[in-house]
Amino acid sequence: MKRFAHVIGTGASVPARVLTNSDLEKMVDTEDEWIVSRTGIKRRHIASDNEASSDMATKAALNALESANVKAEQVDLIILGTVTPDRPLPSTACLVQNNIGAVNAAVMDIVAACSGFVYGLALAKAMIESEQADTILVIGAETLSKIVNWKDRNTCVLFGDGAGAAVVRVSGKPGGILGTYMRSNGSLWNLLTVPAGGSRMPIDFNSMQNGARYIQMAGPDVYKNAVMAMGEAASEVLSRTGVSSKEIALMIPHQANIRIIESTANRIKIPPEKVYVNIHEYGNTSAASIPIALDEAMRGGRIKPGDKVLMVAFGGGFTWGSAIVEF
Ligand code: ACO
Repeated sequence: MKRFAHVIGTGASVPARVLTNSDLEKMVDTEDEWIVSRTGIKRRHIASDNEASSDMATKAALNALESANVKAEQVDLIILGTVTPDRPLPSTACLVQNNIGAVNAAVMDIVAACSGFVYGLALAKAMIESEQADTILVIGAETLSKIVNWKDRNTCVLFGDGAGAAVVRVSGKPGGILGTYMRSNGSLWNLLTVPAGGSRMPIDFNSMQNGARYIQMAGPDVYKNAVMAMGEAASEVLSRTGVSSKEIALMIPHQANIRIIESTANRIKIPPEKVYVNIHEYGNTSAASIPIALDEAMRGGRIKPGDKVLMVAFGGGFTWGSAIVEF
């Protein structure tokens, strides 16, 4: 039997606490008008002190399993994209496995920043087609609020926390993940980085004092590269699959900046009504942004059986990638 990888269920979870732009006005020198006009963000959800990526990932995974009508014991692989793991060791995927009781699964974290979920879909498709797995949970989960410098207005207004998940399962029926594309360019690593906390610069008194444990970003350079990478990723997966942009029922882009989203859609001639945008509510949740949006779109009736959905992402690294899924 030829094997196809179908997305059969989705889930998401975001923290209850909401931080609005006017809350931020009281914390740093910024304005609601600046944030909305430059980014499209109005609010973001922020984890509580005792909430970590695995907590949200667990809830998202359980929601996805429920919507797919799949039991945790049936999952044979968990792929979790995050740059904010609960701890350096073990992987956050191990913690989720334990929490949901996926006792028959192999698990791994992948670090591809905001591209984590589309990288995960690409791996899931390959693992299913090569008969190495049948039922896979692909998760994106981030607690960026814990690595953001809340005194740096250049970054703190941009990010939020949350998790999203999808169940990908083998089927003999054509369709599902039709094609994927993954790229990276490590020469741009220092445009978006957290300098401290790894083996190069372990956390110490200095890094606690000088901000090296927080996200540092060259915003305008990231912006320029993101516009190019998103456009390339979208065009490339369309040509690899032979799907025309007219056939795309919905585009779900990584939610980093409304202007980047609009320019990507423009470049591949997808009209605004076919572009899913929720950046105003969540900000940039990195690897969680596409699966949160996908889950909202599924539950909100924006995706119908037979629809072809284009997902496209870029992130720190630099990484970028895309996927087209037929539902
Ligand atoms: N409030 C008010 N003013 C601000 C703020 C703020 N929060 N932040 C920056 N400014 C100021 C700057 O200091 C600058 O002032 P100056 O001209 O006096 O120096 C001015 O606003 C303009 O700043 P720019 O950086 O030129 O503004 P730009 O239009 O480029 O927008 C932004 C900045 C939103 C960060 C944009 O560059 C961007 O979205 N970049 C991409 C970021 C991104 O997507 N990052 C995530 C990558 S994905 C991942 O892997 C996590």
